[in-house]
Amino acid sequence: MADNRPIGVFDSGIGGLTVLREIIARLPNESTVYFGDDGRAPYGSKSHDTIVEYSLQDMMFLEQKDVKMIVIACNTASTHAYEVLKKHSKVPVVEVVYPGAKAAVNATRNGKIGIIATNATVSSGLYEKAVMEEGRDIKELKTLQQACPLFVSLAEEGWWDDDIAHLTAERYLEPVKKFGADTLVLACTHYPLLAKTIADVMGEGVTLINSGISVAGVVEEYLKNNNMLSDGGEATREFYTSDDALRFESVAAPFLGRGLPKGTKKYTVDRFDVTEYLR
Ligand code: DGL
Repeated sequence: MADNRPIGVFDSGIGGLTVLREIIARLPNESTVYFGDDGRAPYGSKSHDTIVEYSLQDMMFLEQKDVKMIVIACNTASTHAYEVLKKHSKVPVVEVVYPGAKAAVNATRNGKIGIIATNATVSSGLYEKAVMEEGRDIKELKTLQQACPLFVSLAEEGWWDDDIAHLTAERYLEPVKKFGADTLVLACTHYPLLAKTIADVMGEGVTLINSGISVAGVVEEYLKNNNMLSDGGEATREFYTSDDALRFESVAAPFLGRGLPKGTKKYTVDRFDVTEYLR
């Protein structure tokens, strides 16, 4: 049996398009609905309770669009709100932390894994926990986390590979280099855009993990195993933002590629009442 309903993907803003990009590349026949909560971004500097509340509203919006699955493309929302969403969502929920952690564990040779993310993701400690769980068979597994909040602004400004990006990366990544990580998880949606700069600063022999690629694999596996793939008709792409649609499209294009997004509509989700979920 086929399921032609779209896959719902949400993020605090445009960054999750780096995850959507990988999902489209892997599953081009699947329709998608993307919601970016740009009007309330960033989530990375918000409190746990706020991130949970916003994520529940994002979930309710996607459910209203009759999606067959919800992908939390945002690392910050995944670390703080996945458990709550999993409990309350009417459809399966995929998060980004464990797929990224698993890819890192598979890639490391010296057992030293660096994790770079927003402040809220770092303070949750969930990535470290996920790496330790996924790598439970590896002796001497060590992690080092580093918050790199300015990378989000650099990515949105399009300053991916200039002097400012390099100087910022050198400053943030110094402790990770000293630690001797041979694998670095880009645990924030925006960081894949700075991958070249990050790779230059980290130096040769360091593997960068873009969790979007692993997440697309998890989505495919789930849909296949549960007979939920579409029957291969033409896929549709819908985009929603809680802020200005034209700004979303102009900033978002490099995150997604392929001439998308198009036809973005504005939709604010704070109208959704989540109190019953927070009891
Ligand atoms: N999408 C967020 C993440 O992956 C980064 C931007 C934000 O702080 O909202 O953590």
